[in-house]
Formats: sequence, structure tokens, C-alpha cells
Amino acid sequence: MEDSKSTDYMEKFYLDCGFATRTLHAGEKVGQPESSAHTGAIYQSSTFIFKNSEEGAQLFAGEKSGYIYTRLGNPSVRLLEAKINALEGAELKKKNPNLRISTIAFSSGMAAVSSTLMAILSKGDTLILGDVIYGATEHLCSNVLNRFGINTVEVDTSNLNALEKTIKENPKAKAILFETPTNPSLVVSDIKKVSELVKTVNPNIKVIVDNTFATPYLQRPLELGADVVVHSTTKYICGHGTVVGGLMTTFHDDIKSAVYMVIKDVGGNPSPFDSWLVNLGLKTLPIRMEKHCSNAMELAKFLSDNSKVAKVHYPGLTNSPYYDLARKQMKHFGGMISFELKGGFEAGKKLMDNIEIFSLAVSLGCVDSLIQHPASMTHACVPREKRLKGGITDGLVRMSVGIEDIEDLTRALDKGLSLT
Ligand SMILES: Cc1ncc(COP(=O)(O)O)c(C=O)c1O
Repeated sequence: MEDSKSTDYMEKFYLDCGFATRTLHAGEKVGQPESSAHTGAIYQSSTFIFKNSEEGAQLFAGEKSGYIYTRLGNPSVRLLEAKINALEGAELKKKNPNLRISTIAFSSGMAAVSSTLMAILSKGDTLILGDVIYGATEHLCSNVLNRFGINTVEVDTSNLNALEKTIKENPKAKAILFETPTNPSLVVSDIKKVSELVKTVNPNIKVIVDNTFATPYLQRPLELGADVVVHSTTKYICGHGTVVGGLMTTFHDDIKSAVYMVIKDVGGNPSPFDSWLVNLGLKTLPIRMEKHCSNAMELAKFLSDNSKVAKVHYPGLTNSPYYDLARKQMKHFGGMISFELKGGFEAGKKLMDNIEIFSLAVSLGCVDSLIQHPASMTHACVPREKRLKGGITDGLVRMSVGIEDIEDLTRALDKGLSLT
């Protein structure tokens, strides 16, 4: 992000490179003042010095590109934004070189989600929201956006008939926001079909996908027809549990400009240091994701055969209703698993209190494994009936599978389960 006019800083050279090469090299020199440093620097500065009054005037008028004030743009932040352009948008750009891919980085995933919605929606508009969505996104819609006259309707986006009906019943809809796979039930929606349906029935609706669970390594919504992709970089993109951050990427100049206006005037910009940490983590995204996914696949199979487990939710299991779609839409099946314990609520708590290696913590996408029991923790204040409707049963456990040795994770789970 720099100003509303300059958007596309994707270096053409990287369009012909593979994903891993882009995660390492793309963006590294973008917007960085001339330097021989091997690694992009942390520009921990709130403001930038103009050479003279003429330059100050040109920068403010948008006639010259450069830095003014960190809320409006910063070299360390821009490097990250340029790299994400190359990861989410390179294939689109190859097909259509005139397309301008733009990314804006934020101080949190929720800042990315809220700023994007504030940019696209106005008073009187309706938002169609996936019915299984991150809790804060739902609260944002029902507690904040509703006070500004934005109405929300929920629908299961994996059910195209239900979605078509909802679109037709809500002619004032301007955006649809959904996650795939969902949290924690791991339901997969068909991004291509949802996007096609939306464009056919009501082309005024912008399709926004929260791609946090998949990352651009596994799934790229813009290539599948979505208009906007948002991320919490807190998770896999940073990968080390050190930062809370977010991203928004689009190929629509008007959406990019509108989101820029929101971050400029509302705030929500990331710190230079956090952006540097996210970029550092990002460099190993492909190899981390490979290991997250292969470990998760092993554990999902292990859990399926365990006598204490009633059901495993993982799109990589061939008996999952989402297996074929996930295979088509994603590179691998992801690092998140949820499963239901036969012993219900008490078994869930016992597992949390006894399991080794896995840290008992919310969040996900860290290099190390995390585990949590939604019914006694994240969803404890949600009325039981509503919780059950969202697939969060009393014995449901959610795991973010890390990149430890698989033998150690399997042994820890086996021992923990035996005590439930
Ligand atoms: C799918 C999803 N989207 C958005 C968010 C919000 O991100 P953050 O916590 O970085 O604000 C989360 C957080 O867990 C999430 O899981």
C-alpha cells in the first residue's frame, strides 16, 4: 500500500518462476531504498523526510510515489504486499498482463476482514455470509456493521441450491464472504461454482474468500473466480506464532482504492517489524505446508482407526463428503483436523489436560502443534443448540497439526486418547 493510484508492484520476472521461488525472492527489492542488504530492512519509522517542499507537495498530490507516513505506506510493509501479489496473483497476471494485482497488509486478520467489508458495503446493502465462519467475523456483522445499516444473511455456501435462493431473495446483496475449509468443521465450498453462480444471478455481488486455512500455497481463490481474498497472516503465512496480521488481495482497482481509503482513515495498518516477521515466515511456507499436510493426513488416518474417536473431519480422508472437491480445488488437504470423541464433553477436557507435545492453545497454523476443545473453550459461551447446529458437538476437538516428527505426534495422541 502506498497511495490510491499506485497499485501493481508485481515484478514481471517472477511470473515465470515457481511458487517456492516466488516466496523467497518476489518483492524483496520492491519499494526498498537502494541497498545491498541481502534481507529487506525493517523501516521502524513512523514518518519519512521529504527532500524539499516541492517533493512533499508531489507526494501528497499523488504525482510522485514514495513514503509519507507509515499508516499510508512503509517499505517493509510494501515488500510483504508485493510478495503476496506474486503468490496470489501470478497466474492471473500471466493470463491477463493488463490486470493489476494489489495487496494491502493489515495489523490483524480482522482488520483485513472489517476494512474490506467497510470498503465494499454501504448503508442499506446486504452481506451474504457463510454460515460457518470465524466467530469475530460473525460478531463484526451482527454487532458492528448492523449498526451502520448493513444487513447480514447467512447461508451454507457448500449448498449451491440454498445459495441461489439466498441470492435471489436478497437483491440488495453487494458481497458474499465465506471460508473454505471452514473452522472447525472443515466443510469445503466450491469457489469456482460459487463465483459462477454469483456472477450469473447477481453480478453486483463481490465474492470474498477468507483463505486463512488453506494459504495461497494450497488454494488460490482469485484464480477460481473470486474477486477478493483475505487472510489472517497470524496463522500459516507467518507460521511461527509471533505476529497478529492480515492481508487483502484483489485485481479490482476500485476495490483496492476503497480498501486503501479505509485503512488510511480508519487505521489497521501493520507495524514494519511485524511485516518483516511475516515476510520471514513466508519464505518457508511451501515446505512447512507440505509437512503440515502430510502429518495431518497421517493423524487423520490414525484417528479414524482409534476406538475413542466417533468421527474425524478431514477433507483428505476418502470417506469425507468433501474429498473430491478438495482434491480438485486444493493442492493438498491442509493441516487442520477436527474429531469427535465418543466420551463427549468430559473426554474433551481430559484429553486437553493430559496430552503431551500439543500445546493447549487457540490459533492455528504454527510450526508446532496446537489443540483445543471448542465446547469448553472458544465456543463455551455459544448456546448449546446453536453450537450443535454449527457442527460443534460436546466432544469435538480441533487440532492444528505442526511439523514435528509424525511418530511423536501419533504417540502423544495415542497416549492422550487412552486417558479419556
Ligand atoms: C479463518 C479466520 N479468519 C480470520 C481470523 C481473524 O484473524 P486475526 O486473529 O489475525 O485477527 C481468524 C482467526 O482465527 C480465522 O481463523
